[in-house]
Amino acid sequence: MTQLPGLLDTEAIRKDFPLLDRTVHDGKKIVYLDSAATSQKPRQVLDALNEYYERHNANVHRGVYTVAEEATALYEGARDKIAAFINAPSRNEVIFTKNASESLNLVANMLGWADEPYRVDHDTEIVTTEMEHHSNIVPWQLLSQRTGAKLKWFGITDDGRLDLSNIDEIITEKTKIVTFTLVSNIMGTINPVEKIIRRAQQVGALVCIDASQAAPHMVLDVQALQADFVAFTGHKMVGPTGIGVLWGRQELLEDLPPFLGGGEMIETVSMHSSTYAPAPHKFEAGTPPIAQAVGLGAAVDYLSAIGMEKIYQHEHAITEYAVKRLLEVPDLRIIGPATAEDRGATISFTLGDIHPHDVGQVLDEQGIAVRVGHHCARPVCLRFGIPATTRASFYLYSTPSEVDALVDGLEHVRNFFG
Ligand code: ALA
Repeated sequence: MTQLPGLLDTEAIRKDFPLLDRTVHDGKKIVYLDSAATSQKPRQVLDALNEYYERHNANVHRGVYTVAEEATALYEGARDKIAAFINAPSRNEVIFTKNASESLNLVANMLGWADEPYRVDHDTEIVTTEMEHHSNIVPWQLLSQRTGAKLKWFGITDDGRLDLSNIDEIITEKTKIVTFTLVSNIMGTINPVEKIIRRAQQVGALVCIDASQAAPHMVLDVQALQADFVAFTGHKMVGPTGIGVLWGRQELLEDLPPFLGGGEMIETVSMHSSTYAPAPHKFEAGTPPIAQAVGLGAAVDYLSAIGMEKIYQHEHAITEYAVKRLLEVPDLRIIGPATAEDRGATISFTLGDIHPHDVGQVLDEQGIAVRVGHHCARPVCLRFGIPATTRASFYLYSTPSEVDALVDGLEHVRNFFG
């Protein structure tokens, strides 16, 4: 078996993930290479969900009875865990949403309805990048259409990096918000946050970071990042689906208006008007995703016990190996950085002129699960003049043998299609 420096004890880790043990297509062991779409879940998270529903299920912030108080303590306890995980200065800066898309839509709507100095209107500009997931493009298109604000973006270089050569023309005195992904969900590129934030701060623009593909894989320290908002989702970081996070700077959350109205987000309501609860509750209308938050709390406990720096080193070693092995496959072209430096463990590629859907299907027959398509990042495919890619993405449970299985599988695909 290939041994690489920096690898985690995957034999032990994989025992925690029941799904990794299953087989498909008449006994073929699953090779799960689609963690960028969603990660698998460890027993510890599944147990926390079960335990919550079996013993503590009640609505939060309402009942005065024992079980309701337990449910509230578990839900708010999860907020404490997430705050510590991202080094937030205050737990009140952690808003629970249903996913990263909702978190990003929340920011766009806060700014669209805000008063000065945050208000986005026809005389202002919004900056994003061509590298974004659709969830960090469409909300800003909607805001631009509603307000008349101009939407601008950074392009992508041939090697899959952000083209910041015109940063001073893209981010200007008119820019209200700069929003970009920390790690590309399609190419794995890790973006130069500091350079972008420095320019945004020069012109007084707010900064929003989509950390969906970063939070699961590396130390995420919102104070070190120096952004104003950071969005991510639970299901990619060994947590359940249906739970996302928006972190925002406290003074902004105090000033900005809510987006969704309803129960739990108010202080008082009359038929004429309402006043709102302080953040984070101001932004959490209705019954929240309680069990999912508890599950996410268990997920960050699980990741923290292993250590985010160790997880990052593991994935870096796997990525280095995967890039090297994939480049040995004839006709394979990596879309994005063809190196392990400044990139995460997500690798997109094309294989000659074989359509990625065919690649995915033949790989599936061998038990190998990859994602094919435009990966909700269609502008990246347009940029490279391709309809789709095949994408392999790795995580803390991935092994060098799975990289070998992928490479062998691709050989099989090439033979199959002659
Ligand atoms: N955002 C997820 C992906 O990139 C679904 O696959």
